[in-house]
Amino acid sequence: MKITIFGTGYVGLVTGACLADVGHEVLCMDVDEGKIERLKNGQIPIYEPGLAGIVSHTVEAGRLSFTTNVEEAVAHGVLQFIAVGTPPDEDGSADLQYVTAVARSIGQFMDGYKVVIDKSTVPVGTADKVRAAVQAELDRRGLDHDFDVVSNPEFLKEGAAIQDFMKPDRIVVGTDSEKAAELLQEVYYPFNRSRDRMVFMDIRSAELTKYAANAMLATKISFMNEIANLAERLGADVEAVRQGIGSDPRIGYHFIYPGCGYGGSCFPKDVQALARTASGVGYDAKLLNAVESVNYAQKHVLFDKVSHYFQGNLDGKVVALWGLAFKPNTDDMREASSRTLMEDLWKAGAKVQAFDPEAMEETQRIYGDRDDLVLCGTKEQALKGADVLVICTEWKEFRSPDFELVASALREPVVFDGRNLYEPEMLDRYDLIYYAIGRGTNQFSQV
Ligand code: UDX
Repeated sequence: MKITIFGTGYVGLVTGACLADVGHEVLCMDVDEGKIERLKNGQIPIYEPGLAGIVSHTVEAGRLSFTTNVEEAVAHGVLQFIAVGTPPDEDGSADLQYVTAVARSIGQFMDGYKVVIDKSTVPVGTADKVRAAVQAELDRRGLDHDFDVVSNPEFLKEGAAIQDFMKPDRIVVGTDSEKAAELLQEVYYPFNRSRDRMVFMDIRSAELTKYAANAMLATKISFMNEIANLAERLGADVEAVRQGIGSDPRIGYHFIYPGCGYGGSCFPKDVQALARTASGVGYDAKLLNAVESVNYAQKHVLFDKVSHYFQGNLDGKVVALWGLAFKPNTDDMREASSRTLMEDLWKAGAKVQAFDPEAMEETQRIYGDRDDLVLCGTKEQALKGADVLVICTEWKEFRSPDFELVASALREPVVFDGRNLYEPEMLDRYDLIYYAIGRGTNQFSQV
């Protein structure tokens, strides 16, 4: 089937590549000429395991191509996926200007039936706005082409996006049109061989499903972070508590890992946007607001611990930092806890020596050259001459470091672990003082 994808960001590119992989003819359109040029030359703008291979072989096979030409893009596909960004406005609500701009372009150039599919995470009611924007252009042109608007949210996890797309838990399709439903069924057939993955519903429910899924997951994390903070003050071990509650299948083991807060392109933005949507319809979403404020505070917890250790005097201290990306297997730094930590440390006069297996370039791009940031080539280099070590991301290579080396390289033998990677006794054996999240040795114990 012929498919057009607007937006070659994370969602658009993964969707385009995977649909081309199973045989569809996909044209990806982006207004960023540089990006399209690089994609045409086989350069993938994001780090996502497996993506480069699929892009290169589908391009070679002639099933995936790229363009900056809107007219060509609209002409190509019966299905027009909108996968452009929806950055937060100043007040946290999703900015729809790119989505509606694509909708207008579709209306401006369409020459027959099209299905316009919202793939971007968009607030409930966006499909109506997309429909109105397409219709307005058709009216302006004095044309009466038939079209449908569908909500088809994505549930991809960075670092596992290809796997998630190829073997989805569910494919949510919100539509009021049988014709569109049949076309979507056909497109997704290769990913739905078990025939039980597609969930059809009305458009608004599909739009809300995406936010509900992310807000639920973010709630689980903030809940566990609150329990962790409580455990620290009560002398309990949150890791034991986690195992104790996870064994209840109604709770489950997934997404109850406490840490230094959630980041990324979805959770922070979506929780905020849903809370703003709620207040827009006169509902005070108390739980969503609490999830957000717990996470905000949690991102400062590592700094609080370091600062407490040095009795508030961080001026001139050197902090080794392992992990910059918001989670492992990505170079994405959006809303990463490492950023809050670094910014807090810099404000307090400390210097950071950082290492991340993938996000070094991204860090350089965001922060540029500054005296209080040294980007190190290895995790060992980051330790040299540092006072203490802080861990923000649970990369595999941080799980079993040479603790003897850690203990001897640091000026003070202290490890602050924002991801609970180690057992406290283990570090004790190397005479390392260990401050994790909600467990064992901690500075806030009241008992
Ligand atoms: C998320 C959703 O999982 C995905 O379904 C949606 O489509 C987009 O948002 P992603 O942002 O890629 O995906 O990351 P995810 O693996 O979900 O992690 C998000 C954040 O939560 C990370 O910062 C991670 O460290 C944190 N996290 C996750 C925890 O702190 N504890 C956990 O138990 C799980």
